Amino acid sequence: MIRIAPSILSADFARLGEEIESVRRGGADWLHVDVMDGLFVPNISVGLPVVKSIRSATDMFLDVHLMITEPLRYVRRFCEAGADMVTVHVEADEPERIDLALKEIRAAGKKAGVVLKPATGAEAAERYLPACDMVLVMTVEPGFGGQAFMADMLPKIRALRERIDAVNPACLLEADGGVDPRTAPLLTEAGIDVLVAGSSVFGREDRAAAIRDILGA
Ligand code: DX5
Ligand code: ZN
Repeated sequence: MIRIAPSILSADFARLGEEIESVRRGGADWLHVDVMDGLFVPNISVGLPVVKSIRSATDMFLDVHLMITEPLRYVRRFCEAGADMVTVHVEADEPERIDLALKEIRAAGKKAGVVLKPATGAEAAERYLPACDMVLVMTVEPGFGGQAFMADMLPKIRALRERIDAVNPACLLEADGGVDPRTAPLLTEAGIDVLVAGSSVFGREDRAAAIRDILGA
């Protein structure tokens, strides 16, 4: 079963509750929340209070993508704020401290994942696979919504699918960036389980139709 996780980065933040409800009704069961610190990526988005408010507004599965330097400093607090899944970038700290961040997320009873930027090879995920619930492959440079899909990430996705199936088949594989009705089939064919979609969902009035078109349902 392919899941869709609409990214609220492209939502109208002044009407966030209604925006979330529109994608839930449209058929999404996950919600993707992009947290940016203005340091790891050249943009600032939302933080702990917003995750906390979203948590009290919906029962959707909250997939929190941390684009922050040294995520170990904050993972526990994002779990406490109500994240169901917290993903951290492998480029954001030393491997030992990424290990600790994953451990801390799981100790809080939440799902933990690692994220790879476009320039980071599949092999960078290898050491984390046994302790991971998800690997997220960026299919654009992290930091902004609405960018063009990088088709050259497909071989990396296929390589990760193989390694996940061999090492930890329960681990999910997610793609983020430039997902739309044209690129989604390429991703699912390459072995993606979860599709993050920002502008292609929130950029359309009819959220149910947007989600249906992406899932090809
Ligand atoms: C980018 C974020 C994405 C972003 C995707 O750094 O991680 O989640 O919202 O936006 P689209 O789907 O518009 O490429
Ligand atoms: Zn994201």
